[in-house]
Parts: sequence; structure tokens; C-alpha cells
Amino acid sequence: MERFSMATYQSRIRRTLISASELQEAIRLAGAEIDREYAGKPLLLVSILKGSFVFLADLARAVSIPCEISFLQVQSYFDGTASSGTVQLTMDLAQDISRYHVLLVEDIIDSGRTLQLVTELLKKRAPLSFRILTLLDKPARREVPLTPDRALFVIPDVFVIGYGLDCGELYRNLPYIAEYGTET
Ligand code: IMP
Ligand code: MG
Repeated sequence: MERFSMATYQSRIRRTLISASELQEAIRLAGAEIDREYAGKPLLLVSILKGSFVFLADLARAVSIPCEISFLQVQSYFDGTASSGTVQLTMDLAQDISRYHVLLVEDIIDSGRTLQLVTELLKKRAPLSFRILTLLDKPARREVPLTPDRALFVIPDVFVIGYGLDCGELYRNLPYIAEYGTET
């Protein structure tokens, strides 16, 4: 298949936006902040599949306090208007989150619509606290008022790949964040 050809694959990686070492340094600091803020509290790290699996894996290892880790998978449907939509859970959490401080770990916030719906849904379950930590924030693209509690990198309005983020399911395994481009 053409999209699996190495030449095609590499030609679409336009430039590195955030290097592997920049990612690791920011994650190390975020892990230390989590250690300080949640010490002695029942902490649950929640990530939405699949884009945040790489970030979560590194973040979890930068956290040294005890915590549990869980995954959600969602299917979002939007009716075309900016403010409405529904989200269906295709995989739910096993934990009763009313007993936890929940930290939602996200890869990127774009329009913010999926995360807004997931936030509403999880807050209804009355966690002890609820915060959003995102690796990347693209505020220029926001369609709903959603602000993460912490964003490790604020990026311009470009399509990015790597470090869990895909384009047509490829590039998730790239160890850094790159800008995607089709022009030669
Ligand atoms: P939204 O915030 O509801 O618009 O959706 C965010 C989701 O769109 C992310 O979790 C990603 O899966 C995907 N996404 C948004 N921007 C990008 C990008 O630049 N590269 C790859 N995926 C993206
Ligand atoms: Mg995602």
C-alpha cells in the first residue's frame, strides 16, 4: 500500500515542532507538579483513547505518588451547530470516580467539543475533584469555551502528528511532534 511506503511516509513529515527531549523535560515537570498537588489523595489518571496513550505512558512514569490509571473510549456525534452534540462511551471506566480526584490526560484540544462532552459526563459522577491536563493546546481552533487546567505546549493552527497523534492512523509511533504536510 502506498501509504505504507517509507518515501511517502517521510515526505509528509514537514518539520519537527516539539522534539523528544523537549517533550520529556515538560513531562518531567508536569509529573513533579502532580506529585505535589495530589500527594496523599486518591488519584485517578484518565485518558481518552487512542491519541493520548503515548503521553499517558510517559506522564505516568514521571509521577511517583500512588495513582490508578484508566481509559475511556468515546464516539462523538455533532449535529453541525457549534454548541450541541452527544458523546457515546464505547469503553467506560471501571472505577466509581466519586471516590477519586480525577485528572483527565488529553493529547490535544482542538475544537474542544469532545472534551466538553466528556467533562460534562464525568462531572455528573461527582469526582472529588476534576482537572484537565493536555499535552497540546490549539486555542485558535476552539469552538466551545473549554480551558484546560494545564497545557504543556500551546501550538499554532497546524495539523500535527506523532507522539500518539495520527493522520489516518499513521505516525502515532513517531517519538516527537511534527507538522504534517502534503506539499513537496
Ligand atoms: P476536538 O477538540 O473535539 O476538536 O477533538 C480533538 C481530537 O481531534 C484530538 O483528541 C485528536 O484526536 C484530534 N485532533 C485535533 N487536532 C489534531 C492534530 O493536529 N493532529 C492529530 N489529531 C488532531
Ligand atoms: Mg484524542
